[in-house]
Amino acid sequence: MEACLRRSGRRLLDVSPVLSSSFGSIYRSSSSGFGNDSPRNVSTVAVKGLGNLVRKGTGGRSSVSGIVATVFGATGFLGRYVVQQLAKMGSQVLVPFRGSEDSPRHLKLMGDLGQIVPMKYNPRDEKSIKAVMAKANVVVNLIGRDYETRNFSFEEVNHAMAEHLALIAKEHGGIIRFIQVSCLGASASSPSRMLRTKAAGEESVLQAFPEATVLRPATLIGTEDRILNRWAQFVRKWTFLPLVAGGSTRIQPVYVVDVAAAIIASLKDDGSSMGKIYELGGPDIYTLHELAELMFDMVREWPRYVNVPFPVAKAIASPREFFLNKVPFPLPTPTIFNLEEINALTVDTVVSENASTFRDLGVAPHKLKGYPVEFLTCYRKDGPSFGTTISEKITGLDI
Ligand SMILES: NC(=O)c1ccc[n+]([C@@H]2O[C@H](COP(=O)([O-])OP(=O)(O)OC[C@H]3O[C@@H](n4cnc5c(N)ncnc54)[C@H](OP(=O)(O)O)[C@@H]3O)[C@@H](O)[C@H]2O)c1
Repeated sequence: MEACLRRSGRRLLDVSPVLSSSFGSIYRSSSSGFGNDSPRNVSTVAVKGLGNLVRKGTGGRSSVSGIVATVFGATGFLGRYVVQQLAKMGSQVLVPFRGSEDSPRHLKLMGDLGQIVPMKYNPRDEKSIKAVMAKANVVVNLIGRDYETRNFSFEEVNHAMAEHLALIAKEHGGIIRFIQVSCLGASASSPSRMLRTKAAGEESVLQAFPEATVLRPATLIGTEDRILNRWAQFVRKWTFLPLVAGGSTRIQPVYVVDVAAAIIASLKDDGSSMGKIYELGGPDIYTLHELAELMFDMVREWPRYVNVPFPVAKAIASPREFFLNKVPFPLPTPTIFNLEEINALTVDTVVSENASTFRDLGVAPHKLKGYPVEFLTCYRKDGPSFGTTISEKITGLDI
């Protein structure tokens, strides 16, 4: 492979010392493994955005965009929208998955026959990562987790894995674009350990792959989201919603489809987004309380809140983190009271003033009120036509 990369004029990056320091012994090293020992499999496209890829067709699902993308984390919430938008423009999408064969099954329907290719891999096995990247010219990393498990720490998932993927992508030599999806608020000084590891992940990716594009989306809203769904489920069960610190923290939630559109827009540009960081927040800033009002309005329940001060919220969330590695069985996934999310809520998380945003990528984000939150109608007590909205109630009183 070394000879082959030299022949194609690319520098072979020796990643083994860096990897061994970052990952200890968990990642098995291998000298090759991309399957591109044959020159036939090495991309010859120059590193200048995707502008000069060969394209065919009118740009729809059955045309050829020239993009062959490996989307890590495609089995998650954002992943399905990214795969759908990539497939819609005629790209081939390689979907690495771990666990059950069922986890990528829904994605196969998003493209023509053979366009979406699920490939089993092990995120701790370098050889299998190389195999899923072998034929790609684009890598999108959506891997991330907002809680720790017994098997995977924040450091490993949000930082070490991202660094590992970037190093392997660089070594590959034919990866033109690397998109790293981080989180709005990611910073080395964040009160949340999760966001600190996200910031470390960004830094390592940009060091290993300086042409990478980093996107920092705010809280994602959409059919499978992990905020409004959880709130609505809680309300259905308990008829009230606990709001941390009275819901006074400001966030800038964003429609998941817009974030997927931003990923596609950055891939389609002339390379101007390479090496840059974008902060992706929705058009409106909400306090948690205002967002909860929107949820109550959609599920047509009378808003009832319980104010949970920060110390109480942390006290409720802490036992899981304390016992996580001390008991011999897995602990439940945190939902409303997630310690690192509560820590993140101690400060406002909105797009910073001088940041590059959706506008720089040519994407106009949708307002949340309306279609993006319509999925909440499934939580109405007696079906979609149950009840009236708050505004309808007030109008009724006026009459
Ligand atoms: N959701 C949000 O509100 C939000 C907000 C800002 C930023 N983000 C970021 O956006 C990205 C995508 O978010 P999402 O909501 O789509 O997340 P998600 O639904 O939790 O999906 C995460 C993906 O990462 C994979 N993953 C998690 N832990 C892994 C591990 N240890 N090894 C290998 N793969 C692993 C999951 O694979 P499995 O299916 O196999 O578990 C899944 O495909 C993440 O980086 C997240 O931090 C999300």
